[in-house]
Amino acid sequence: MIILKSPEEIQAMRAAGRVVAQAHEVVRDLIRPGLTTLDLDRAVEEFLTKQNAIPAFKGYQGYPASICASVNEVVVHGIPSQDVVLQEGSIISVDIGAFVDGFCGDSAWTYPVGQIDSQTQLLLETTEKALFEGIEQARIGNRLSDISHAVQMRAEEQGFSVVRDFVGHGIGRQMHEAPQIPNFGPPGRGPRLKQGMTLAIEPMVNAGSYHVQILDDNWTVITRDNSWSAHFEHTIAISDEGPVVLTTL
Ligand code: MF3
Ligand code: CO
Repeated sequence: MIILKSPEEIQAMRAAGRVVAQAHEVVRDLIRPGLTTLDLDRAVEEFLTKQNAIPAFKGYQGYPASICASVNEVVVHGIPSQDVVLQEGSIISVDIGAFVDGFCGDSAWTYPVGQIDSQTQLLLETTEKALFEGIEQARIGNRLSDISHAVQMRAEEQGFSVVRDFVGHGIGRQMHEAPQIPNFGPPGRGPRLKQGMTLAIEPMVNAGSYHVQILDDNWTVITRDNSWSAHFEHTIAISDEGPVVLTTL
């Protein structure tokens, strides 16, 4: 069942979204060669706690940290570690979720570390565009897979591929609510979109093939072909005036 939110509930979700966006500002300002992904995790956890926000990932199905920090061929769910030192020319996807007053915000962004090559830059730009073209489809009367289709079209136009094994999701009082939101598929399928739906749309786009594998830590997801991968995610609400991004300042 898809839980529709009232305007008051969406206002509350905006507060959660804003804190997540601010945490991304903290990350963006910190990222540089030599920093570890554990440094980023600590900074975000400290920031969220100071804002009276609760990190949404920590303890979720046993996940040990407040952020996911996924470098290069890591697609999602990279566990922050003092052994992962950021290198010039790498990319890092940082995923942050937080609860404020009982509602969740969830957003991911892929950041360059120093200068990156032009093909990697294209991967980042394309995945960000795919996210926003998916968000554009989050309108009353459209169907859910209109979002999926728009994301896939943008990603594949550049020869990249969208991950099949992980999807976006409804979000609200729980981080994961119905519906699941694949990043691929034909348009015009699935439930009709309604006012008050709140969704986390999160394309994961690989430079190579879409196949992934999970490492022995049971979390880290990497590309099978070791190609690099980007991940952009926003939490949005569907209003009568169109999609509203909640994970923004
Ligand atoms: N954005 C991810 C998601 O939607 C983050 C979850 S990481 C986890 O599921 F550790 F909390 F599982
Ligand atoms: Co999510």
